[in-house]
Amino acid sequence: MASSSLSVVLLLCLAAVASAQMSTTFYDASCPGAQATIKNGVVAAVSSDPRMAASLLRLHFHDCFVQGCDASVLLAGNERNAFGNVGSLRGFDVIDQIKSNVEQACKRTVSCADILAVAARDSVVAVGGPSWTVSLGRRDSDTASETLANHDLPAPSLSVTDLITRFAAKGLNHTDMVALSGAHTIGRAQCKNFRTRLYSEENIDPALATSRKATCPQLTGSGDSNLAPLDDTTPDMFDNAYFVNLKLNKGLLHSDQVLYTLAGGATEDIIDGFASNQDAFNNAFAAAMVKMGNISPLIFPQGQVRRICSRAN
Ligand code: HEM
Ligand SMILES: *[C@@H]1O[C@H](CO)[C@@H](O)[C@H](O)[C@H]1NC(C)=O
Repeated sequence: MASSSLSVVLLLCLAAVASAQMSTTFYDASCPGAQATIKNGVVAAVSSDPRMAASLLRLHFHDCFVQGCDASVLLAGNERNAFGNVGSLRGFDVIDQIKSNVEQACKRTVSCADILAVAARDSVVAVGGPSWTVSLGRRDSDTASETLANHDLPAPSLSVTDLITRFAAKGLNHTDMVALSGAHTIGRAQCKNFRTRLYSEENIDPALATSRKATCPQLTGSGDSNLAPLDDTTPDMFDNAYFVNLKLNKGLLHSDQVLYTLAGGATEDIIDGFASNQDAFNNAFAAAMVKMGNISPLIFPQGQVRRICSRAN
């Protein structure tokens, strides 16, 4: 008797494991208010700080590129200290606030990784970009790796060949990579990340170079963290101006401009298409965000739902 009811329990568990996967309705029964709570948090944060849309979008990108979309980027220490992250990533406090609101409604139910994915989507929408449906059910890691982050996150000094390799390693093709780079239609970069381009590259619009040099001196160590908009035309609006700018040598980062001028035919046509057609960009961006959001998720029984996003349970 005891042993047969144990087998029934085991069978039920196996069935639950076999059917566990991501879905768009994942929290509909367990936490029906989750998506609205996340959206409210994003809208409030972006209305008091427009740049926050960019910062939340980038958090999700940096999460997904390092051991998959598992909220590893949020754990204190580790990945947060990697080259591209330290002194650069922002929005941790916004995610913590959203998480605590969600926890109040439904305890230990909604993962930090899912919150990042939904917040990235809602951020894009909040600044005029396209929407898409986010699959849910990612779980959170209990580890993060600074070494892996340094290895997998693309640096702004990379060549187009290396950029393509980095994205291909995550299952993202040329079109995805160019579309996702269009995230640089919003947000800011620090002088230290585009100084070399200002002072030693030829494929830069002279007027842009002059105006950026005013707040980004040549001497390393001076003005390193001074900010400039990645899209000089419409810095806080999600549109296709980033691609129009690339055609005019007005990309801010080396890694932006190489997509157009040094790609040897690999990506120019894609940029021309996005620069001349906002809908084409929006559709490709949404499709690529779905792909990026599905990189190596932890699915039950793997992973955990963290109580606090900055530390493992
Ligand atoms: C193609 C390879 C990429 C490289 C080399 C790159 C590099 C960078 C760098 C250097 C910055 C400025 C950071 C700072 O100065 O503090 C930045 C900002 C940003 N990146 Fe990227 N990025 C890439 C792709 C992406 C992707 C795929 C996304 C999202 C889908 C993204 C979203 C952003 C956003 C929104 C910002 C502004 C963040 C803010 O203002 O807080 N980037 N990126
Ligand atoms: C790249 O992936 C997108 C989906 O994100 C797809 O629509 C497109 O056909 C792919 N392109 C190539 C060249 O494989």
